[in-house]
Amino acid sequence: MLQKFPAFAGVNGPVVVIVLDGYGIPKHHVGSAIDAARKPTLERLFAECPNITLRAHGTAVGMPSDDDMGNSEVGHNAIGAGQVYAQGAALVANAIADGAIWQGEAWQQIVAGAKAGANGKAGTLHFIGLFSDGNVHSHIDHLRAMVLRAKEEGVATVRIHALLDGRDVPETSALDYVLPFEAFLQDVSGAGFDARIASGGGRQTITMDRYEANWAMVARGWRTHVLGEGPQFASAGDAVHGLRAQHPGTIDQDLPEFVIADEGKPVGTIEDGDAVVFYNFRGDRAIEITRAFVEADFTAFDRVRTPKVTYAGMLQYDGDLQLPKRFLVAPPAITDTSAEWFSKSGLAQFACSETQKFGHVTYFWNGNRSNKFEGETWQEVPSDVVPFEQRPWMKAAEITDAMIAALRSGQYRVLRCNYANGDMVGHTGHFRAATMAIEAVDLALARLLPAIDAAGGVALITADHGNADEMFELDKKTKQPALNPDGSFKAKTAHTLNPVPLILYDKVSGGRLGLQPTECAGLSNIAATVANLLGFDKHPKWDDSLLVVSRGG
Ligand code: 3PG
Ligand code: CO
Repeated sequence: MLQKFPAFAGVNGPVVVIVLDGYGIPKHHVGSAIDAARKPTLERLFAECPNITLRAHGTAVGMPSDDDMGNSEVGHNAIGAGQVYAQGAALVANAIADGAIWQGEAWQQIVAGAKAGANGKAGTLHFIGLFSDGNVHSHIDHLRAMVLRAKEEGVATVRIHALLDGRDVPETSALDYVLPFEAFLQDVSGAGFDARIASGGGRQTITMDRYEANWAMVARGWRTHVLGEGPQFASAGDAVHGLRAQHPGTIDQDLPEFVIADEGKPVGTIEDGDAVVFYNFRGDRAIEITRAFVEADFTAFDRVRTPKVTYAGMLQYDGDLQLPKRFLVAPPAITDTSAEWFSKSGLAQFACSETQKFGHVTYFWNGNRSNKFEGETWQEVPSDVVPFEQRPWMKAAEITDAMIAALRSGQYRVLRCNYANGDMVGHTGHFRAATMAIEAVDLALARLLPAIDAAGGVALITADHGNADEMFELDKKTKQPALNPDGSFKAKTAHTLNPVPLILYDKVSGGRLGLQPTECAGLSNIAATVANLLGFDKHPKWDDSLLVVSRGG
């Protein structure tokens, strides 16, 4: 149980943490859907409530460097755990730099599996993953290192299944990765080594679904990578050119699947005796395809053919489910999270979001655990399965309904929710839809806050990272919005490096409570702040609270 907090007995009502996903504090007015949105409730909160900014990117959330933007995995880990851990991106980079990854049993089994093959024939080593340097789910440098090492260790054939990004990197940047990489593969091939890209497609079209929102995407990925079904091209470079010509205006993440073939024959189907590495380090969008490879009694879609392969994830994607059993680098061991200690302190907790961010407020929040702690209730609102620029309001209203019902029930002392709009619509690159996304969230807050008042509670309103705050790419030199050749602004789909707000909404303390701005305040300071609002001291492992309590009252 957490100790009592001497300075403040805690509010009588509930403490609610509201995550406005993708809501950063803009540096520039131009290109900010947040500035452009009409948002009277948020503006009132900024004007009237204690509020500070928090760091939500780079080393403040366990990324390798401060050039790395934040993302929802590391952001929700930091908020929920109250601590900063070296995250997948850093752990893998380190394991490659010091060579520990090659000494691990998993890598050795992958190499041995591919070399042994089946039926007297050596196998192929396949790498499937996100093909960019976004460093949110994967990094192409990790792939390059593994290809070189596989060659060194005597693997004869390597095939890559490249998921085009355009979501964590500029929206039409696929060729910046594909062309140099195909040249690199050609360079290292020859003399008994043969490495090629074998298939691929946009990450929002195939393979990388999350939270079972759209299994059809994963089924399409399986048919592309494993069965070699799909439109054929001679190289991945040709495929990107060809698909763009066939689908004008389609950005990388939405491009259809492609298969590389020689004279009609796919060059890299996945067969018995092959080895497969899924090289994303982040789990949410890796779990479904991993299950398709490793589950004997898999029923989510018809796999048609299930090759017997040696399979490894870059990391273990779910520790509770041990998925997958074989992984190249151990994930961060996140312990003593806020949900665990609030549970041990006897507090009932409620967590809610829509499908697209449901695992973020549950699994990531709880340190990558898929099981609830005692006294936790999780509610998922099913997301629409549409491009979100078509429904920028998403499920903000339904999440609000669920939160209001939970508040009215009087059952919960700690509640948390995530409004996905700023992020999911921000990722589409549609400026107007993104302003509507923020407006939908503002409307939701206008309904939710009175329910918190009625319950005698307080709220911390924050975000996991920026996104809608910069909807145009910035020119690297001038730092001003970059232009397309036709003079229009270049749309930006990725997260930003901007800080996020932390607002204390408090109608109950009579003005006794405030927030302490500090140079290094970040997302990991939220857990301790929540604990103090509840009248508890922080767990010793958590970063400091930002709550200021003045005398009196
Ligand atoms: C995605 O997976 O949609 C993006 O790569 C990152 O978005 P998230 O970190 O906000 O989920
Ligand atoms: Co995002």
